[in-house]
Amino acid sequence: ATIEKGNHRHYMQKEIFEQPIVVAQTLQSYVRPFEGRVALPDIDFDLGSVNRVTIVACGTSFYAGMVAKYWFEQFARVPVDIDVASEFRYREPVLEKGGLALFISQSGETADTLAALRHAREQGQTIAVVVNVPTSSMAREADLLLPTHAGPEIGVASTKAFTCQLAVLAALAANLARAKGRLSEEQEREIVAHLQEAPEAMSQALGHDEDIAAMAHLIAPARDVLYLGRGPEYPMALEGALKLKEISYIHAEGYAAGEMKHGPIALIDDLVPVIVLAPSGPLFEKTVSNMQEVRARGGKIVLISDAKGLADAGEGCMATIEMPEVHPLIAPLVYAVPVQLLAYHVAVAKGTDVDQPRNLAKSVTVE
Ligand code: AGP
Repeated sequence: ATIEKGNHRHYMQKEIFEQPIVVAQTLQSYVRPFEGRVALPDIDFDLGSVNRVTIVACGTSFYAGMVAKYWFEQFARVPVDIDVASEFRYREPVLEKGGLALFISQSGETADTLAALRHAREQGQTIAVVVNVPTSSMAREADLLLPTHAGPEIGVASTKAFTCQLAVLAALAANLARAKGRLSEEQEREIVAHLQEAPEAMSQALGHDEDIAAMAHLIAPARDVLYLGRGPEYPMALEGALKLKEISYIHAEGYAAGEMKHGPIALIDDLVPVIVLAPSGPLFEKTVSNMQEVRARGGKIVLISDAKGLADAGEGCMATIEMPEVHPLIAPLVYAVPVQLLAYHVAVAKGTDVDQPRNLAKSVTVE
């Protein structure tokens, strides 16, 4: 059946707005809210015996993997290696027995990721796959298949598949933590409750669509844009930059906020907008001091934070976008929304072909 855009101007816009529903749909397979338990589809190996996770993916799926690395290490205390698929095989990674190799892909057909999967299998790894197309090659070759239920994604820029990947990965992190004896029943119940809050929080984030559209003209004339974040919001900064590059053709870089002083700060002037993703919390003050470094050089900041963060540091910013205050576990799912919307509206303002950006294919089946 053909998929319609409905009231939306582009598939990408439709897919951004579908996220609360498809994330909720995806979570249904991975949490049992009434029991306060996380769950996985049938699994025929002992998750508790996993002593290392190796994550491999490309592009946006890779950034989902980077977020997951924070979660797996923090919650399950399992060491994680992560590579872009095109580098993985060729660096001859050391893959020891008992390792779980985790591949993340919307299409399940990305050539580099598929080749990496086969390499990991030859090296005796258990193969887990987070994939959106259930009939894909990667889905067929998985020992542990973890489907995202985002539905078909048409826009070349991945949006809803990404947040559904994050939902699955968060649930997997909790499962791994439980299997490792690192999660009390109480903690598990809390994690489930927070995951269940994600769709509503994402809806609230979508409520800022018009404000974000109104600020697109601040970004559209830029030649370069920097995105900054810390912790799991660091990969979100990378993802924000990728989205903007892909569809608006503006050069953008994502950086760990604390890394800026080691080089990219040299780029800052009043022509380079700096988008800061910073939920309030223990790392917030550190990011604020990075923002001051930007401001001292005439940099123009767009701060994406919650009410608390904006009250503390919103003053003097070129623009702010208010996110609901959420548990750190679900912040990446929520903060994905404004970076997607910003890229979308900047691209619309520039008149690019949002759903079919130049030089890009939806699924990259060549190495
Ligand atoms: C995302 O917006 C991109 N178009 C691209 O980076 C994509 O995420 C990458 O090619 C991986 O695709 P996959 O998830 O289908 O493997």
